[in-house]
Amino acid sequence: MSYYQNKMRDKNILELKDGSGFFTLKINKDELEILRNIVNEHFHKVIKTNYPNLNFNTKINEYHKISEKVEHNKIWPMVSRVLSEEKYNQFLKFELIDRLSKMFGKFSISDENKLGYGELVWRLVRPNKKDDVGPIHCDKWFWDLNPNHYVPENCERVKCWISLWCDNKNGLQVYPKSQLKNFNYKSEKRHGYMKPIFDHSNIESFMEKQNCDPGTVIIFNDKLLHGGVVNEGLQTRVSMEFTMFVNRKKFN
Ligand SMILES: [Fe+2]
Repeated sequence: MSYYQNKMRDKNILELKDGSGFFTLKINKDELEILRNIVNEHFHKVIKTNYPNLNFNTKINEYHKISEKVEHNKIWPMVSRVLSEEKYNQFLKFELIDRLSKMFGKFSISDENKLGYGELVWRLVRPNKKDDVGPIHCDKWFWDLNPNHYVPENCERVKCWISLWCDNKNGLQVYPKSQLKNFNYKSEKRHGYMKPIFDHSNIESFMEKQNCDPGTVIIFNDKLLHGGVVNEGLQTRVSMEFTMFVNRKKFN
């Protein structure tokens, strides 16, 4: 690794740990296009499976135009939005993965649902639908509340969020440096799964909307407070995310 690459790696990891708690990259154009096609195809497959007679060619970022024709709250549970093992293996060959490995060393991708391979999950957020966006949270809370979710020994979790379709700042918002603080939250059990309950009224003014043009990759600390922005854009936002297990030695 070159001197420059080493410096960049150290800078990014420091930023993640002790700085703002996140940094951004850009996925290359070809890989963005491949990923968009994979997710768009997957989206069509889920709709076709649920509604074999519904004929339409609407692209995923125009989903809001046809979403009234499907039971939105039923057909998109998390497991229906995880890419197949074949697509996961294709993704592992991306130059993005190579770049991340240069920063973090060899890493693996989490598999909370025990599918047997790393989970790449995509998400839909329609314009002006508040319910399409979850509450502000730290990912760490979910892991702490659900200790049966496997984390390899001596590993840190690092989250990766990729914008596939998004109008400017209608993507992800974060509370910079919040990974250095502690916040109180309660919890409740829902569908056999523990979820954090957090009063975010006091921290809303600290949230900063990020520029999330398509292809933006936001890499952030497991303890960073973040959440989706209510989409005030014109198209359905589509993003993909995954959790990396990074060797703690590299991280420290
Ligand atoms: Fe999250």
